[in-house]
Amino acid sequence: MEPFRHHVFVCTQQKPEAVGSCPNSGSLPVLQALEREIASQRLDNEVQLTTCGCLGLCDDGPMLIIYPEGSWYHKVKVEDVREIVDSHLRSGTVVSRLEWSDAQAMQATSVEHRERYRAMVKARDVGGILPEELNEMIRAFMPSRVVLTALELDLFTAVASGASAAQVAQKIHADTRATEMLLNALASLKLLEKREETFFNTPESARFFEEGSPDNARNGLIHTAHIWHRWSTLTDCVRAGTLVETGRREGSWVPAFIAAMDRNAKERTAAVVKAAGGPGIKRMLDLGGGSAAYSIAFVQATPGLQSVILDLAEVVPLAQENIRKAGLAERIITRAGDMLRDPLGENYDLILGSAICHMFSPEENRRLFRRAFDALAAGGRLVVQDFILEPSKTAPRAAALFSLNMLVGTRAGSSYSGPEYTSWLRDAGFADVRRVRLPGPAGLMIGTRE
Ligand SMILES: C[S@@+](CC[C@H](N)C(=O)[O-])C[C@H]1O[C@@H](n2cnc3c(N)ncnc32)[C@H](O)[C@@H]1O
Ligand code: FES
Repeated sequence: MEPFRHHVFVCTQQKPEAVGSCPNSGSLPVLQALEREIASQRLDNEVQLTTCGCLGLCDDGPMLIIYPEGSWYHKVKVEDVREIVDSHLRSGTVVSRLEWSDAQAMQATSVEHRERYRAMVKARDVGGILPEELNEMIRAFMPSRVVLTALELDLFTAVASGASAAQVAQKIHADTRATEMLLNALASLKLLEKREETFFNTPESARFFEEGSPDNARNGLIHTAHIWHRWSTLTDCVRAGTLVETGRREGSWVPAFIAAMDRNAKERTAAVVKAAGGPGIKRMLDLGGGSAAYSIAFVQATPGLQSVILDLAEVVPLAQENIRKAGLAERIITRAGDMLRDPLGENYDLILGSAICHMFSPEENRRLFRRAFDALAAGGRLVVQDFILEPSKTAPRAAALFSLNMLVGTRAGSSYSGPEYTSWLRDAGFADVRRVRLPGPAGLMIGTRE
């Protein structure tokens, strides 16, 4: 028996812009419209909607196939979606005006496409031409740089409910010709829409990049713009073995960094509290607690828990502001200091080191773990959250790349592997050392002081 009454496949095979393909003729908006319509007609439990790769009918896209009937629809537009859902998925009647039922012609087109594709791959190979995917990886900084510049200039706020290039340029105090080039590039990336000579934010850009939106993430994303400058020193850092740029830290650096940390933390607090918390915890130390997101989450989930945040003097006021907003000033206290040198206190049931160890060298981490061990009560736990590399250090990719983020930004930091954490924890005296895998590239290492 089929688990779903219908299975819909939508082709989303990405191809270069100049080549005919389903995404280039609009399959992604069709996919989104199908998702919305299926949900709004409450058919989600009966209809399975998934994407698929190229069907060889690229010039007739967007293509979609509905099983078990095996109906192949072609040139589907967003405006056709409601009819497909109403007629085919709800009532079982195929929409014949969109169905492509000439099986012979379809097979011939698909076979011809495959042959052409194979010949093209072979010709590139014989000619020693750089594969398209490699080329794209090498130039991937370009779209990234375009968005970061738009964020730095707060361009999405300037576009607001619609503006010409000259109007945007005036608002962001920039050159009109250059602003227009940037706006056009953003429209090509589908982060803006252009109608006549007026630019508009897409719903997504308005939600995440525009001043006044409750989900505006610009402040935290500015941190990525800051580290972009460091990344451009990577070649020199690899030669030198450490960071080479120490100067460039604008006034917005610390607030943007802590906003970025806060955004990451909020996605993860529930899973971390579930994996590392517990009712018996009365005293907690949050090493480098940053925005206070983790202390706030632990305290809110644990009756009677008091937390101490130890962070650098420049960060403490930002943590205090968040603690005050959460109404937890009685239960979370902050201390300015250096976790590698200043006293940590004693008798904690839980010490959390979230996104800390990657800043330090192996020797500094060993020292930190020994100090944490001494600061715990018997039965207390040290919980480390970080990107944890597999023993080969080549995966997960986010952790391997983040290691370089630490090379360009710290004296001796890095991502570390599970076996490295395990040996440092054991050598510091911890028992019951274990790794807890959480969704996403970061995970936990936990050790207990017996
Ligand atoms: C990557 S952030 C992590 C923030 C928070 N733990 C989280 O997971 O969201 C690192 C934090 O450690 C703090 N920090 C860096 N070096 C420190 C040191 N030597 N002593 C105390 N805090 C430090 C930074 O100010 C920053 O708040
Ligand atoms: S890209 Fe969709 S059929 Fe080829």
